[in-house]
Amino acid sequence: MDHFDVTILGAGAAGLFCAGIAGQRGLRVLLLDHSAKVAEKIRISGGGRANFTNMEVGPRNFLSDNPNFCRGALARFTPRQFIALLQRDGIGFHEKHRGQLFCDRSAEDLIDLLLRECAAGQVTRWQPCAVHEVRTGDTPARYVLSTDRGEVHSHSVVVATGGLSIPKIGASDFGYRLARQFGLRLVEQRPALVPLTFDERAWQSFAQLAGLSLPVDIATGEKKARTSFSEDLLFTHRGLSGPAVLQISSYWKPGTPIGVDLSPQTALQPTLQEAKLSTRRLLPNVLGEHLPARLAAAWTSADATWQRPINETADKALNALASSLHAWQVTPTGTEGYRKAEVTAGGVDTRDLSSQTMESRQPGLYFIGEVVDVTGWLGGYNFQWAWSSAYSCAHAL
Ligand code: FDA
Repeated sequence: MDHFDVTILGAGAAGLFCAGIAGQRGLRVLLLDHSAKVAEKIRISGGGRANFTNMEVGPRNFLSDNPNFCRGALARFTPRQFIALLQRDGIGFHEKHRGQLFCDRSAEDLIDLLLRECAAGQVTRWQPCAVHEVRTGDTPARYVLSTDRGEVHSHSVVVATGGLSIPKIGASDFGYRLARQFGLRLVEQRPALVPLTFDERAWQSFAQLAGLSLPVDIATGEKKARTSFSEDLLFTHRGLSGPAVLQISSYWKPGTPIGVDLSPQTALQPTLQEAKLSTRRLLPNVLGEHLPARLAAAWTSADATWQRPINETADKALNALASSLHAWQVTPTGTEGYRKAEVTAGGVDTRDLSSQTMESRQPGLYFIGEVVDVTGWLGGYNFQWAWSSAYSCAHAL
């Protein structure tokens, strides 16, 4: 029988960070994961360079039924504190876009840092090792875990099993099941930061644009609760992707439309009206000076009145073309699902967790990282939540 002060389930971003800190605080820590490889999601994140945080992080960058829940943890452990760890170890990083920080060399540098922290805390790591059951035990071992390597007694259990996305690299619903077993509430889970798909027939005319990317303004939701982003959109064979669509997907509700301004930097109506007075060129060619030529050609092919020389095109037709591009309304039929989603929205209901410690209403049972109903935007926010929630928990154990 093995005895530990704390057993952490899941050796991903949150689990590794929590284990290192708890171990260095002098606790006997067991970290276990059913995957053979450690931190697979860090390894594949940010195109292999891990967008590990963002310079500007606040509650507005997260979705949750309780938008303020994350505030305390984010203040307790900030991006600057995580950056200081990388600097201490001489790991190079750079800002790519809007405060997003990436490793210069590889996400492996980050994984090595986290493993060094665990080694400094003399953390025992069992991988691969599945947990089959967690039940309450006798004091002082509040919990008894049955695992592939036998029974473990532990004073506390930290659940860091992440969300449901990318099942082929180890995602499971174990954390949610455990929460339910102990009577904790769950916020319904759904894929987030995920490409949106459309009815195959309705999408046929856009499928020819696959691979095309352009900056857009994108929005969803009713007036009062309208959410918008200015990012790049990517056309795919099945629908829409790219940062703009991943961001809006987290807010999109099935059955509702999304609004896209395909020309956010150029007001097309006055631009086309002006061109009408000075050139006899075909409208698709004029439009192609302001939008990607492929998009201009495909868009104007939808209406015969948009295929004439611009000086022979009626004002009404020009204005209709401009409006259709500035206010494109499309209703996705679904998403690419957990297979392609970067994260899972929803999770363990924050009403049943302490925002100070991440401990649940069940004494000694903690939840950190993505398994909690706190979901970040694209841009390093999900890793920062993993670090911040892990830090708060590790100092409370
Ligand atoms: P994480 O998923 O990292 O770890 C959970 C661990 O628990 C896994 O190792 C899993 O094997 C283990 N586990 C699950 N069930 C178990 C069980 N029953 N028993 C034992 N172990 C179990 N975020 C960001 O901020 N910047 C970025 O650049 C990216 N990029 C990115 C790319 C891609 C392709 C994906 C899929 C995701 C991202 N993300 C991201 C999101 C980010 O990876 C994610 O939010 C964090 O990894 C969450 O950290 P956790 O530790 O909570 O879960």
